[in-house]
Amino acid sequence: MDLLRFSTAGSVDDGKSTLIGRLLYDSKGIFEDQLEAVQNASKQRLATGIDLSLLTDGLRAEREQGITIDVAYRYFATPKRKFIIADTPGHEQYTRNMATGASTADLAIVLIDARKGVLEQSRRHSAISAMLGIPRVCVAVNKMDLVDWSKDVFDKIRQDFLDLAAKLGMENIEFIPLSALLGDNVVGRSENTPWYQGPTLIEHLETVDIPKELSSDKFRFPVQYVIRPDLTFRGFAGQITSGSVKPGDEIEVLPSGKRAIVKQLHFFDRELPVASFPKSLTITLDREVDVSRGDVIVKAGAAPKVGRDLDAQVVWMDERPLALTRPYFLKQGSRTVRARITRVLHRTEIKTLSEIPAANLGLNDIGRVRISAAQPILLDPYLQFRRTGAFILIDPETNATVAAGMVAADQPQSSTDVVWSESEVSRISREVRNGHRGGVVWFTGLSGSGKSTIAKALEKRLFHDHRQVYLLDGDNLRHGLNKDLDFTPAARSENLRRAAETAKILVDAGFLVLATFISPTQADRDMVREVVGARDFAEVHVSTPLAACESRDPKGLYARARSGEIREFTGISAPWEPPVSPALELPAHELAVTESVERVVALLEARGLFADVQEPGAGI
Ligand code: ADX
Repeated sequence: MDLLRFSTAGSVDDGKSTLIGRLLYDSKGIFEDQLEAVQNASKQRLATGIDLSLLTDGLRAEREQGITIDVAYRYFATPKRKFIIADTPGHEQYTRNMATGASTADLAIVLIDARKGVLEQSRRHSAISAMLGIPRVCVAVNKMDLVDWSKDVFDKIRQDFLDLAAKLGMENIEFIPLSALLGDNVVGRSENTPWYQGPTLIEHLETVDIPKELSSDKFRFPVQYVIRPDLTFRGFAGQITSGSVKPGDEIEVLPSGKRAIVKQLHFFDRELPVASFPKSLTITLDREVDVSRGDVIVKAGAAPKVGRDLDAQVVWMDERPLALTRPYFLKQGSRTVRARITRVLHRTEIKTLSEIPAANLGLNDIGRVRISAAQPILLDPYLQFRRTGAFILIDPETNATVAAGMVAADQPQSSTDVVWSESEVSRISREVRNGHRGGVVWFTGLSGSGKSTIAKALEKRLFHDHRQVYLLDGDNLRHGLNKDLDFTPAARSENLRRAAETAKILVDAGFLVLATFISPTQADRDMVREVVGARDFAEVHVSTPLAACESRDPKGLYARARSGEIREFTGISAPWEPPVSPALELPAHELAVTESVERVVALLEARGLFADVQEPGAGI
């Protein structure tokens, strides 16, 4: 009988526990005690001398990885299928629990409260499910009784979720309207949803097909134990994590690359003609080759890349944020090597599902990092090899699992070990000497709105007041650092990313930076805020209307944009999104320049920028 592993994801009161309880109770599922399996295994062990304690559906292997601590597994069965539910408890450390519980799931149930619809949490659950490559998603629209079994409510949630799923590249989604509390459409069919013809939840779980990668080219067998009951027998025990194998196959042992032919496959006291994922078994080879615990046996000629430098997606799980300076242990299967994180490539913002440049990852953050390991490891892309492509990072000082990692599909060509080096003169010392804090005043607005005019006057004013101030001007940067960039949306983003990084350096040098960039989209401005750090960032919207900018047309650009000579011109042929909540708005067409200057100075004063600097404070 086949086995479906699924995970459940819901917010605190979406009714997750009720749903699980309902499933177990109504399906009259046989609660399978693992005891039986274990007893069997022990008997067999005595009989054959082969270590068969691995035969608990691979759960033991996962436990060994040390990542399942917070996940409660429940077992049940119906006449059609066996089930393992990875129930990730709690609202704290949410991402961590979900990532660890769901990483081997065939299906994720995402619970949505019909009254609340697709919320931030639902987005988070879905993004994590997508990242974990869970092949099937079932959206349980719960508490339908509380919305009068409304088809409209259900359809709306369905559409909202499909919009989100499209962004995440998720497919194969089933939507089920149900009430976990009353039992409707969980096991028994509901009379309250005559408009719904689909399966009940249990029917879906019993019949959904589980895609399995069984080709022999994808064969992966991480060796958990080398078994030597006597001098005549030498076998390698473990679980097939993908693909299949049969006697006679030529295999390769990684990382050594040694080759041999598979002699026999042992399963309890039987010999198998062929075995495939997710079988646990013992393999013997036709010759003596050096194989140890932690090695991975693969099909010869179809071996994955092995390397020391890798890019990976990680979920950060520790209170202590990621540190480029600290060594970690990287544990892949039963193999552990020393490793360092050499770069944070980006952080994924769950709300917008965008990738934001980041210097760091904190608790529950998801991002992409570059890692340099002391020894070669397997570079199986996670989305194709969900077992061997996964790893965890451990803090050697505390022994805590600090991150779950997934090997990226595209790997760096070559990477050098670049580490952050800390200066001996701190920003705060510089600020104390300057007598004020540093920060970035980011002027955004249409071309010709007066950003530069105001910023120049402000720079002069602050300089005369003995402030360390610097005007970072968009047009000027485009003459040097950014001269390779045009005005496509991607080039503008890169233009602003570099501007933000430059501003950040200047802030670290103690400066008050006045940055003038059109920066036409909210997403780009949010990215800038992230790079600089919200504490050091103030957004000022110079809100001269388009008509006024165009009639002033100080550089003659609007005329050229109208005639089609300049393409993608902001406000004319490229979008302009006014800031959602700027720190200050300056309608420059109605204000004298000196008045605008005074308002910014007042903002800086109100934010304590010129207050006595002794220790890191509120910033701007
Ligand atoms: S941003 O959109 O990437 O933030 P940035 O502030 O660096 O723009 O540069 C804008 C300046 O480039 C404008 O003030 C204008 O002088 C010039 N420019 C040239 N072509 C364009 C265009 N297609 N859209 C906007 N500005 C342009």
